[in-house]
Amino acid sequence: KNLDIPRDHTIDGSINLLAEGYTYALDRRQKLQSDIFQTRLLGQPAICMGGKEAAELFYDRERFQRGGAIPKRIQKSLFGEKGVQTLDGQAHAHRKQMFMSLMTPDRLQMIQDIVRQQWQSAAIRWQSTVQLELVDEAQEVMCRAACQWAGVPLREQDVKTIANDLASMVDAFGAIGERYKEGRDARQRTEQWVTELVELIRANRVQVAEQTAAHVISWHRDLDGELLDAKVAAVELINIIRPIVAISYYVVFSAHALHVYPETRQKLVESFENGEATYSQWFVQEVRRLYPFTPILGANVRKEFTWKGYHFPEGTTVLLDVYGTTHDPQLWEEPQQFRPERFADWDGSPFDLIPQGGGDHRHDHRCAGEWLTIDVMRVSLEFLAGHIEYEVPEQDLTIDLSRMPALPASRFIMSHARPKT
Ligand code: HEM
Repeated sequence: KNLDIPRDHTIDGSINLLAEGYTYALDRRQKLQSDIFQTRLLGQPAICMGGKEAAELFYDRERFQRGGAIPKRIQKSLFGEKGVQTLDGQAHAHRKQMFMSLMTPDRLQMIQDIVRQQWQSAAIRWQSTVQLELVDEAQEVMCRAACQWAGVPLREQDVKTIANDLASMVDAFGAIGERYKEGRDARQRTEQWVTELVELIRANRVQVAEQTAAHVISWHRDLDGELLDAKVAAVELINIIRPIVAISYYVVFSAHALHVYPETRQKLVESFENGEATYSQWFVQEVRRLYPFTPILGANVRKEFTWKGYHFPEGTTVLLDVYGTTHDPQLWEEPQQFRPERFADWDGSPFDLIPQGGGDHRHDHRCAGEWLTIDVMRVSLEFLAGHIEYEVPEQDLTIDLSRMPALPASRFIMSHARPKT
C-alpha cells in the first residue's frame, strides 16, 4: 500500500516559493520532518523533495524528463526556448556533447588566462576611482572574458549594455513585474544580436576561431544532420556567455566571505604564495555550497513509479530543493557556517554538493559550465585576495534570502582598490 506524502497546506506553492525564496522548501521539510512533501503549483498537484537520496532520484533519467517542466516565463527570460535545458533522451545527449566539447583542459586554461588578464585591466581602470560596486565591475569583467573566450565580437562601446542585458536575464528568474520584464526584454535584444552573429558566421562574413563556442555552435549539426535553427543556435551561444556573466555573483559572494570571515584571507594568501591550490579550491566549494544561487530545479514524472512507498503519478511536476540540499544538516555539519576545511573529507558525491545540479555532467542536465565556474572563481579569488588591496566601507552587506537571485544589499562597495605592494 502506498504511503501518503506529507502535505503542505498552503494554497499554492508557486506563490510561497516566490515570496519566501531560498528557504521555502527546507523550512517545510523541517516543519513536516520529511524530505518529501506535496503541494500545488499553479493549481496542479506537485511534489517537492530535498536531500541526497532525493537528488539521486531526481537525476534518474528513466523516471524524469525535462520536456514540459520549465515554465514559459523562465524560458522567456533566463533560458530561452528550445535550448539544451528542455531536451531529453538522445536529443539531449547529442546537444550536451556539443557543450562538453567546449570544456577541454586547453579551453579551460584559456578562460583562466583571459579572466586573469581582464581583472588586471579592470584594476588599472579602477586607479582613477575612489569607490566602486563590485557587482557591476565583476559583471563587466566576466562579460568581456565570456565574449573573448566564446568568439563573440564585442565592441568597446557596447560592453556595459551587453553586460547589463546578460545580467538582467539572470536577475529575472525569481521575479514578477518590472524585473521580469527587464529580463525578457534583455533576452529579446540579445537573441536578435546573437542570431545575426550566427548568420554572419555561417555566411563567412565574420571569422571566428575553430575551437570557440561561436564557431562550434554555429556549425553544430543536430541528430538529423541539419544545422540548428539560427535562433536556437543563438539560445545555445547565450547559454555560454550569460552564465559566465553569472559567475560575477559568486565573485561577489567570495569577496563577501573574505570580508566576513577574515581568518580565511590569510590562509588563502599563504596558499597562493606556496603555489598550492588546495585551500582556494575548498574556499570556492564552500562559497558555492553556502551562498544562495539556484533555489530549486524542476522535472516531470515520465512514467509512474513508487519510491520509498510514495507514489509518483505520471506527469507530476517534481521540484528538487537545491538550496536546501546544500544546507541540509543531515549532510553538512553546522550548515550555516562558512568552513572551507569541511571539504578536506568530502567524498566528492555527485548528489550533495549540487549548487549547479547533480548527477553526471555528460549524461545528465548537470551544469555544463561547472568546471569552468570553479576555475574562474579560483582565478578571481586569487586576484581579490592576492593581487589587490582595498577597503570595505560601512555598508549593508545583508543577503536577503527571499529575493531570488540574492546579492548583498549594498552590491559590495570597495574603496581605494589598488595593486598590492
Ligand atoms: C545547467 C547553475 C555557470 C552552462 C545548469 C543548472 C544549474 C546551473 C543549476 C541546471 C542543472 C539541471 O538542470 O539539472 C549554474 C551556476 C553557475 C553556472 C550557479 C555559476 C554562477 C555556468 C557556466 C556555463 C553554464 C559558466 C557555461 C560556460 C550551463 C548549461 C546548462 C547548465 C549549458 C544546461 C545543461 C543541460 O541542460 O544539460 N547550470 N551554472 N553554466 N549550465 Fe550552468
